[in-house]
Amino acid sequence: MSTDPTSTDPVTQIFAAPARPAFEWPRRLRVGLVGCGGQALRNLLPALGWAPAEVVATCDVIPERAESYARHAGASRWYSDYEKLLTDDEVEAVLLCTGYLPDGSPRYPDQAVAAVEAGRHVWLEKPPAARTADIERMAAAARTHDRQIAVGLMKMFSTVATTVREVIQRPEFGAPTTVTLRDPEMLPTRADMADLSKLTYLLDHLVHPVSLLHRLFGPVRRVAVERAPNGGAVFLMSFASGPVGSLHMPWGQSGTSPMERLEVVGEGANVVAEAGLHITYYRPGHRGAGLPYGQGADYSTAAGEAPLRWAQDGYSGQPYNMNHFYQGYTPELIHFTQSIVEGRPVAVGHLGDAWHVVRFFEACRQLEDGFLELDRVADPARCPQAQPVLVGPA
Ligand SMILES: NC(=O)c1ccc[n+]([C@@H]2O[C@H](COP(=O)([O-])OP(=O)(O)OC[C@H]3O[C@@H](n4cnc5c(N)ncnc54)[C@H](O)[C@@H]3O)[C@@H](O)[C@H]2O)c1
Repeated sequence: MSTDPTSTDPVTQIFAAPARPAFEWPRRLRVGLVGCGGQALRNLLPALGWAPAEVVATCDVIPERAESYARHAGASRWYSDYEKLLTDDEVEAVLLCTGYLPDGSPRYPDQAVAAVEAGRHVWLEKPPAARTADIERMAAAARTHDRQIAVGLMKMFSTVATTVREVIQRPEFGAPTTVTLRDPEMLPTRADMADLSKLTYLLDHLVHPVSLLHRLFGPVRRVAVERAPNGGAVFLMSFASGPVGSLHMPWGQSGTSPMERLEVVGEGANVVAEAGLHITYYRPGHRGAGLPYGQGADYSTAAGEAPLRWAQDGYSGQPYNMNHFYQGYTPELIHFTQSIVEGRPVAVGHLGDAWHVVRFFEACRQLEDGFLELDRVADPARCPQAQPVLVGPA
C-alpha cells in the first residue's frame, strides 16, 4: 500500500522508488555528522548508506569518537570543535545528533541557528527542542539565512505511518472517527513537570507517538490526562481535523511485550498496526454471508471483503526488512538530502511539524484536571509554515 507509484506523498514516493546505495545517486549532499554516539552508529550511518549524501567530516567533543567515526564513515577529516566544522567549506549541511544540555534542553536549537548563520542546511535529531519558542527561533534563523532545517521525526517516515495514512485516505474507509495508540512512555509527577531536567525521558520518547499521530491527523485540538501511580497514563484528545483518540502509556507492561499498537477506525472500516511489523486493514465487509444475527453458519468472508494483512518477512536481507528503512530513518534522511539537492522545501518533518509535537510536550507540563485547549498553550499563528523554496538546486 505504501508503494503506490502514482502517489503525490513524498514519503510514499521514497518507498515506491528502488532503494539506491548512496554512491549510485547522481548528486550527493556533502554532510558533516555532529555527535558520534549510539544513535549515529546504530541508525544514521546505516541509513546514510542509502541516501544522496556523503559524510565528508565528523565532529564530537570526544576527539577519539570523531576520529573513529570519520574512519568508519569514510570521511576525510574530523573535528572536536563544532565551530571549526562550520568553517569547513566542503560541508553543505550538518546532521546534528548531540542530545541534551545538563538542564534537560536539547542542544539542537543553538547548534541549528549557528549552522544556518554559517550558511549550512540542517537536519537534527529528535527531540528538536523543549519549547515552541525555540522552534520559532530556528525557523526565523532559517528564513533569514535562506537555509532549510529538518527534524528527525522518524515515525512520520515509517512504513506504518505511510501505509496507515494511505489506508485512512481511501474513500471506502470513510472519515477517521476514533484512534487509539499505545506506547509505553512514563509521565513524571505534576511536581516534577516544573523541572525540565527531570523530563528528559518524557521529552525523548513522547516525540514518537505524538509525531505519528500528527502525521495521520494533524494538530491536537485539546487534551486531558489520567495518571496511574506508577507513571503510566492515558491521554484523551481530539484533533482539529475531526477524530477523537487516546494515547495509552502502559508503563507497567512486561519487558517482553510489543511496544506499539495503533488502531484507527473510520466509517465501517478500521486499520491496526502492531509493533511496526504487522498491519491489518479490516475493509468494509461482513462475516460469512452477512446474514442477520443468529443465522450465519460460516465465519469466513468473501475474498473481496476479507481483511488485508501485511507482515514483515525476514527470509533474506532486503531494504524492506532493514530496521532503518521500515522504522523511517532512511526515508527521513533521503527526504532531507534529496530536498536540498533538488532545491525543494522539506515537506515532512519540517519545523511546522516539530512545533506541534513540541506544543504537545508543553501541554503535558501544564495539564491539570480537565481538558486543556492547545491553542492556549501556544497560538497557532506562531507555528512556522512549511518552508518555502528559498534555495535553488544545491
Ligand atoms: N529517533 C530515534 O529512534 C533515536 C534513538 C536514539 C537516540 N535518538 C536521539 O539521538 C540523539 C543522540 O542520542 P545518542 O543516544 O546517540 O546519545 P550519545 O550520548 O550516545 O551521543 C551523543 C554524542 O554527541 C556528542 N556531543 C555532545 N555535545 C556535543 C557538541 N557540542 N559537539 C559535538 N559533539 C557533541 C557526545 O560526546 C556524544 O558522543 C538524542 O537527541 C536522542 O534523542 C533518537
